[in-house]
Amino acid sequence: MQLRDYGRVIARRWWIILLFALAGAATAYGLSKLETPMYRSSAKLYVSPVRPDYGLTLVIQNLIRSYGQQITSERFLRQINEELKLDLPPGALRGRTNVVGTADNLAIQIDFDDPNPLVAQRVARALAQKFVEEHQRRMLAVEPRDKIEIDIFDEPQPGALNRPRTATNTAAGAVLGMLLGLVTIFLLEYLDDTLKGQESVDRFVKLPTVGTIPRIAGPGTTGGQTFGRRSPGGAAAMTQAGGNGRLINHRNPKSPVAEAYRQLRTNIQFASLDKPLKTILFTSAGPQEGKSTTLANLAIAIAQTGSRVIAVDCDLRRPTLHTLFGVKNAAGLTTLMVDPTLDDLHTQETEVPNLLVLPTGPIPPNPSELLGSRRMSEIIERLRGEADYVLFDTPPVAAVTDAAVLATRVDGVLLVVMANKTKRELAQKARAALEKVGANVIGVVLNNVKYDTSLHNYYAD
Ligand SMILES: Nc1ncnc2c1ncn2[C@@H]1O[C@H](COP(=O)(O)OP(=O)(O)OP(=O)(O)O)[C@@H](O)[C@H]1O
Ligand SMILES: [Mg+2]
Repeated sequence: MQLRDYGRVIARRWWIILLFALAGAATAYGLSKLETPMYRSSAKLYVSPVRPDYGLTLVIQNLIRSYGQQITSERFLRQINEELKLDLPPGALRGRTNVVGTADNLAIQIDFDDPNPLVAQRVARALAQKFVEEHQRRMLAVEPRDKIEIDIFDEPQPGALNRPRTATNTAAGAVLGMLLGLVTIFLLEYLDDTLKGQESVDRFVKLPTVGTIPRIAGPGTTGGQTFGRRSPGGAAAMTQAGGNGRLINHRNPKSPVAEAYRQLRTNIQFASLDKPLKTILFTSAGPQEGKSTTLANLAIAIAQTGSRVIAVDCDLRRPTLHTLFGVKNAAGLTTLMVDPTLDDLHTQETEVPNLLVLPTGPIPPNPSELLGSRRMSEIIERLRGEADYVLFDTPPVAAVTDAAVLATRVDGVLLVVMANKTKRELAQKARAALEKVGANVIGVVLNNVKYDTSLHNYYAD
């Protein structure tokens, strides 16, 4: 993974980081609010020798460390507990007492925490006073020149809020949440075995990408803006009638989706320089990956160049082309199967000039058999003579054999891959199934790729 890839991984799922950060901050905030507020009061003591002497100062520096232990000793705290009638368990009392000795400054700071700021002050003062008294008593037995004086320098004030540190905790919770979010998105990325963009198609499916179709926003697709101006008649009217927004308006040359289908058309024309591609089959590994949508829009793009196109619905399991183009499905491919003459091809005109649709007709119980029949070959030959391009819509190749059966009878096969949905392994299986029967797989149409308007570029990885 390169730095750019890390950026893309984060850009794709940044909201997870945000969500985790918010959850972390909220949790830390909530926990802080649950904590009983503790107020801290501090007394500051200064330790000084009566006779200024370097040797004695060194002794005091060592002593200061032991003073801390004396103040937090069980005996000392028990006495304070009794004298002040605090009624606190010894453990709790020690837990709330904190002694910091700064040997360099010859100072000792005694802190005491309590939910009541005044109690905190009272205990801190008592701790300091009692310690000073005990010390003075001990000093009675010491020679005057070796005496050490301890004075209360700063009288303890009423306690100030010490815990919870809500702001710090909330910030720490947010940072922790962000880190967890980062780990999560990289874990998701690692576990995600779907095809994302051209790079992953190259790497895993090992087929050329002949087209990259952006996500179509609008009614009937994924919601949002519609591409193109609506006008009576033509593709735009169809968009409103049958297409349900899936057939984009090619009259609007600025539409990035329309441009993408035109690009696909051009690439197919380039691919057919050596061996003409007149009959093209559309399939995908799994269901709902955009076979019918891609076929229909490409058919429009080709028809708009003046070439005659027939879109044939061979998906006898889930027919869609008649709905997409808004035509009747009373008669169609299956009607031709039982018509010995083939005089009437049952193709229907659409609102796009040069574009004809052959719907499925009534659905039979044995689709694979019908599509594999000799009769089907005759129909394909007959359709070939009627148009410049014949496009076949089929069911998913990894699910049923229909597409593989037909694939050998057409000039080329396009494998539609839906970005972020089609699994790598399933796409590999689809390719293998098509190659096994000797189909001419032209390449992959990468569908439903996020279109980045700011960059005017397609990206998915
Ligand atoms: N480029 C796209 N942008 C947005 N939505 C899309 C795109 N391509 C397909 N879809 C949506 O995905 C869904 C499936 O599309 P479509 O029917 O074309 O897939 P299919 O592979 O033919 O499905 P089936 O396996 O059922 O035949 C539809 O709701 C369609 O609107
Ligand atoms: Mg379909």
